[in-house]
Amino acid sequence: MAFNTSRSVCLAKIIAENTTKIEIYREEQGLPPLSLGPDAPLDVKYPDSVEGCRRALIDATLELSDLAMGPVELRLLPGWAVLTMFGVTQFIFDFDIAQHVPLTGDVSYDDLSKTVNVGTSVLRQVLRAGMPYHMFYEPRPGHVAHTATTKVMARDPLIKDWSSLSTDIIFTAGTGLTEALRKEPAANDPAKTGFTFAKGASESSMYMYLEQHPELARKFTGVMRAFQKDEAYSPRHLINTWPKDLQTGKLVDIGGSTGAVAFALADEFPGLEIVVQDLPGALETAQVRESNNVSFMPHDFFNDQPVKDADAFLFRWVLHNWPDMHVQRILRALIPSLRPGTKIIIFDDIMPPADTMSLSVERYQRNVDFGMLTIFNAKIRDVEEWEQVISQSDQCFKVTDIRYPENSRLSLIEIVWQP
Ligand SMILES: C[S@@+](CC[C@H](N)C(=O)[O-])C[C@H]1O[C@@H](n2cnc3c(N)ncnc32)[C@H](O)[C@@H]1O
Repeated sequence: MAFNTSRSVCLAKIIAENTTKIEIYREEQGLPPLSLGPDAPLDVKYPDSVEGCRRALIDATLELSDLAMGPVELRLLPGWAVLTMFGVTQFIFDFDIAQHVPLTGDVSYDDLSKTVNVGTSVLRQVLRAGMPYHMFYEPRPGHVAHTATTKVMARDPLIKDWSSLSTDIIFTAGTGLTEALRKEPAANDPAKTGFTFAKGASESSMYMYLEQHPELARKFTGVMRAFQKDEAYSPRHLINTWPKDLQTGKLVDIGGSTGAVAFALADEFPGLEIVVQDLPGALETAQVRESNNVSFMPHDFFNDQPVKDADAFLFRWVLHNWPDMHVQRILRALIPSLRPGTKIIIFDDIMPPADTMSLSVERYQRNVDFGMLTIFNAKIRDVEEWEQVISQSDQCFKVTDIRYPENSRLSLIEIVWQP
């Protein structure tokens, strides 16, 4: 292949073009050039056209970096880097390092060591391990200061919950996958997952484990709240795609957790009366507050649905946590409460076809999918898999519409009960 048509040269051009567009935009807006240094702005939002450049830059950079590393380095180094980042991040949070480094100026390793009660030498060793990953830096010998990324760690408690959950659940679950698959090759029992084998847990599912471990459940709920703030998971997408004929009447939001989505729907559609159902422990952890149109009810969705007069049932971001057999049980538990025409709205992740995703999107989706396997023995279904699991629950569940809101990670599947 000629030099100037090679993939790497093409990627380098994409990187140069998009970096230039982003930097021109930043200059026009009075923003400093891209940086992770201590004075970098923490949360810059770009308009759609510049955001497109940023995504293209990330994709091209990821691919070019992999090409430059080559097959051997690529198998050896990035996994190790992730382990270091996990360990250092956990240390920073568990010893409250980000809180004890001043947001402006610096602190000596000696003083920090006394405050956080870790030996100076080992403190320096661990923090230096994080420095190539943009966590803290040494502005002068023997002293440590914040970078932009550690300022984010100091500022946002949800990042702490996410990080801790990543170690306690996602990382742990990944280490148990092989043992789980040796013992349970079909991977269809939520009680026998990578997570449960790695932990030696005996609960019937991850969610029952959370019911028994309130501190972990609190972090889980915190992370769910954080996801609502992420544009890609914003309740706004559900509101924008919400069926016109369901804007009044009674809705049951099953597995509705804190009720954040129910409150958003109730604010938009005051004619809706919404009952949020979840496990008793989950409702307790969420410290829910009722309002005129939204009430809460403890209910295990494997049991028969107790609300008999609902016009619709919503599962928002719930069913991707369960293997097919369990999704079928959950849907069948609704049947005694359904009337002809009752709607079931699933708002959940639909895996796009493999060849339509950019590298960063595909990595993200596969991360989530792999996590669903190791934690729940579940998966992110593609559209055919969703249609199959729904129709196998009962032939009277008819999929009538599937909508993909723009910029949303979750899509809407509308089902009507037609006996
Ligand atoms: C991924 S969270 C989604 C929460 C919320 N619907 C949202 O969109 O943010 C899944 C929810 O399902 C709930 N859940 C899990 N098992 C359940 C069960 N057996 N019965 C009722 N809810 C359950 C969890 O407690 C959790 O709140």
